Amino acid sequence: MFINIFLIVILGFLLLVVLTVAMHLWLGAPYVPTPMHIVRRMVALADLQSGEVVYDLGAGDARLLITAKKQTPEITAIGYELVPTVWLLGRLRILFSRTSILWHMRDVRTADFHDADCIFLYLLPGVLEQLLPVFDAQLKSGTRVISSVFPLAGREPERTETVQWMGRERKVRVYRW
Ligand SMILES: C[S@@+](CC[C@H](N)C(=O)[O-])C[C@H]1O[C@@H](n2cnc3c(N)ncnc32)[C@H](O)[C@@H]1O
Repeated sequence: MFINIFLIVILGFLLLVVLTVAMHLWLGAPYVPTPMHIVRRMVALADLQSGEVVYDLGAGDARLLITAKKQTPEITAIGYELVPTVWLLGRLRILFSRTSILWHMRDVRTADFHDADCIFLYLLPGVLEQLLPVFDAQLKSGTRVISSVFPLAGREPERTETVQWMGRERKVRVYRW
């Protein structure tokens, strides 16, 4: 009996791992959480104000939005994450952080963020390329877009910061629409 339950748990776990890897391969965008010292830097660069609407597109385990919400509780924080296991991880993290975040399992390529004041990104160039025309169509003038590691093609950042991670340099760019 005990062996059977153990086997079911192991098989369930393996299934979740396979599902997660398959979805990341399909998306072409792996789950790589931003190190916490860079999260804090990105949130500082965002210069969030009370009442603003803040998105993380491809929000992972929600660490950026949790940090932002703890720093400026009066923002509306919205996260989109497509991979169910990563989405669940984020849901649990939000629960334990006792913050209020609108947390959606959906594809950022079909989402609407016309009300955004600030958007956090840590996505591969292919997905960023698909988002650019959507940003042009939807974002209001003045929206800040903060992209970790990967630049937005053809756009000039308002500000670029270099941060250190594991002995290597990493860029965070702030764009203004
Ligand atoms: C590099 S991780 C960044 C996670 C988080 N933003 C952070 O900085 O810690 C990128 C995340 O985006 C998600 N993702 C990739 N493409 C997506 C899409 N089209 N729609 C929603 N989420 C997506 C991946 O599942 C992954 O969790």
